[in-house]
Order: sequence, then structure tokens, then C-alpha cells
Amino acid sequence: MKFLKRILGICETQTPSTENSWTYAAPTITVRLSRLPEIQKPGGAVRLEGAGLSGKILVVRGTDGAYHAFSNRCTHMGRRLDPLPGQDRLECCSVSKSTFTYTGAPVSGAAKKPIKIFPTRVEGDELKISLD
Ligand code: FES
Repeated sequence: MKFLKRILGICETQTPSTENSWTYAAPTITVRLSRLPEIQKPGGAVRLEGAGLSGKILVVRGTDGAYHAFSNRCTHMGRRLDPLPGQDRLECCSVSKSTFTYTGAPVSGAAKKPIKIFPTRVEGDELKISLD
């Protein structure tokens, strides 16, 4: 089943399970952390799409507890990414399985260019992601 998902390019990370958990007002995404259970624990992740965004964003809670935001587009052929459990790495959901560090650098697989990362900061219950 997993191999079929890879052929079809279906990622594991889901969109938010709760309504009104994030907004976008260029150039900043604001995430209400208390409304987004997907990233309340290290290792969690959520993908943000639509709402006026020009691209897809992947938000990951790292093993260190910090929040990381990435362009959710593999630099090989554009498939989405997922966090690798227990590692500070991302993996493309395609058959080629390119991997990237949290600094965006390609590590293995067909992708040779880095993915874009975006700065994050926490202000109370809000996670701010700057897409500048
Ligand atoms: S699209 Fe990611 S490795 Fe091909």
C-alpha cells in the first residue's frame, strides 16, 4: 500500500484537522498553536495549503521541540514532503525518496537542489511563519 502511495505521490502529512487554526496575511502565516494538535508534540507535522498561499507549506515540530517551516515541494519533481520519524530530516513522498535536512539541504535521492525554509517565531499561542 505504501509503495502505491509513493507511485501516486500521496504524502502522509495531513492538512489541519480543525477549522480556523491558521490564517495568511502576506507575507505572514499565523498558526494558533492551541487549535492545531498535529504539531503540539515533537515529531508532528501539518501541511498548509490554499487560503491565498502561492505555494504549499509544511510545518514540522522537530525532535528538539522547535517549529520548522518549509516549502512543501521537492526540488526534483515537486512532490510533497513528510518528516522522517525520529530524525531531523524530511523525505519526499515519491518513489525516489529524496531526503533533506532541516536547513533545506538535499541529502539523498534524485533532488540536487535545496528546499526553501522559512523563519518561524512563537508569540504566546501563535506561531508566525514569515514567507518574505
Ligand atoms: S519528486 Fe521528490 S524525489 Fe522525485
